Amino acid sequence: MTNATRPRGLHVQTWGCQMNVYDSARMVDALAPLGFTLQPAPEGADLVVLNTCHIREKASEKVFAELGRLRRLKEARAAEGGRMLIAVAGCVAQAEGAEILRRAPYVDIVLGPQTTHRLPALVARADAGERALLDTEFPAEDKFDHLPEEAAPQGISAFLTVQEGCDRFCSFCVVPYTRGAEQSRPAAAVLAEARRLVAQGTREITLLGQNVNAYHGIGPDGREWGLGRLIRALAELPGLDRIRYTTSHPRDMDDELIAAHAEVPALMPYLHLPVQSGSDAVLKAMNRRHTADEYLRLVERLRAARPDLALSSDFIVGHPGETEADFEATLALVRRVGFASAFSFKFSPRPGTPAAEAKDQVDEPTKDRRLRTLQAVLRDQQAAFNAALLGRTVAVLFMEPGRHQGQMVGRSPFLQPVHVQGPTTLAGEIRPVTITAIHPNSLAGRLADAAPAAEAA
Ligand code: SAH
Ligand code: SF4
Ligand code: F3S
Repeated sequence: MTNATRPRGLHVQTWGCQMNVYDSARMVDALAPLGFTLQPAPEGADLVVLNTCHIREKASEKVFAELGRLRRLKEARAAEGGRMLIAVAGCVAQAEGAEILRRAPYVDIVLGPQTTHRLPALVARADAGERALLDTEFPAEDKFDHLPEEAAPQGISAFLTVQEGCDRFCSFCVVPYTRGAEQSRPAAAVLAEARRLVAQGTREITLLGQNVNAYHGIGPDGREWGLGRLIRALAELPGLDRIRYTTSHPRDMDDELIAAHAEVPALMPYLHLPVQSGSDAVLKAMNRRHTADEYLRLVERLRAARPDLALSSDFIVGHPGETEADFEATLALVRRVGFASAFSFKFSPRPGTPAAEAKDQVDEPTKDRRLRTLQAVLRDQQAAFNAALLGRTVAVLFMEPGRHQGQMVGRSPFLQPVHVQGPTTLAGEIRPVTITAIHPNSLAGRLADAAPAAEAA
């Protein structure tokens, strides 16, 4: 057997956003021809890839903690006469680059989010004895033009990156620096990938981009397509039942996309639309380029288009300059909108971003208190949203067996996990489920179209 096809173990650990999940899956596909197959733990692996996130300080720190652990595994492997390669990919790799090789000299490969397609070549060079390989440039060629032809099935619900990078430069955010300038994939490439996913059993696709609704790819007709147009084309693929997209910027929500929410049944009634703050002063300092009122009017238009639309958001508390009154404005906005779910964070100063340099930083105890207050309100809203479904029947796309015997888990249109007692053959089916109980992180229900005897089976 040649070196290239010798069976080898690959362990991949992924942090951060869904785009990293997507990139990890592509790296696994790209490494398969070299004989690599995935294994669930790093012990005994021939290659460990850490696909990292730089968005907040804690996320980055975790990488170095994990590297310390891998170093011991690598040494143990070497003591047995084997060799474990360690690769650091993703946004920490992009931001820290050579610093990683300095702090953790046992790392073999450092590659950025735009050079994931070069990983097999880097591994081959490491196999040949080269050390400390660094590839974090923004290459002229596009990683999407180098997607492997063979790809493992991505499951019933799959991610599909349509847009990468960001030109918005929010005051606090590293993404424009780690992912680079905004670029959209051609619509034909997206449609081809979606067709392949559907042929492999995918029923739901979540379109991904750091600023996905800024999508402006070239269409097969030679014109620029917005996300609304792309969604309409995807909705025509037979077998693709559900479409979602994330993450959107309020300023990039155009009429065509809002209309798609009204007119495309496959587009699910759940939208993640980060607002970050409800204070105009803070929104301005954040360079978000919209006011709280503009956000509220946008929400009204979206709900007019799709009355059952569930909204989710991201919030940052304690951005530099945030006063108590600013924070109150955020709470007021939250109460006005009513969110089905939300993510909220304490402002984390990121090196190189304007907000990190600002003089008027908010102290930690204040950030802690505001986060607790905000999260309590958001938690109540989520609980109320879930509770309102009790006794109602919703369409659930089933994915996989649950933790308990005879249990199957799927997702409601509003992205809530729903579990029922039912056969494994439910996987990939959309069935009506009557919600019978509300748990903190999921809903329980029973199949509304099954005879009681069949259910018990
Ligand atoms: N593209 C998305 C967000 C990407 S990052 C958007 O435009 O909204 C995901 C979330 O992380 C952000 O929405 C923000 O709420 C949070 N975040 C980003 N940078 C942060 C920082 N420096 N400190 C705290 N939270 C941050
Ligand atoms: Fe970051 Fe999103 Fe702002 Fe872009 S739009 S800079 S990804 S928070
Ligand atoms: Fe993190 Fe990079 Fe995504 S910083 S959130 S992995 S774009």
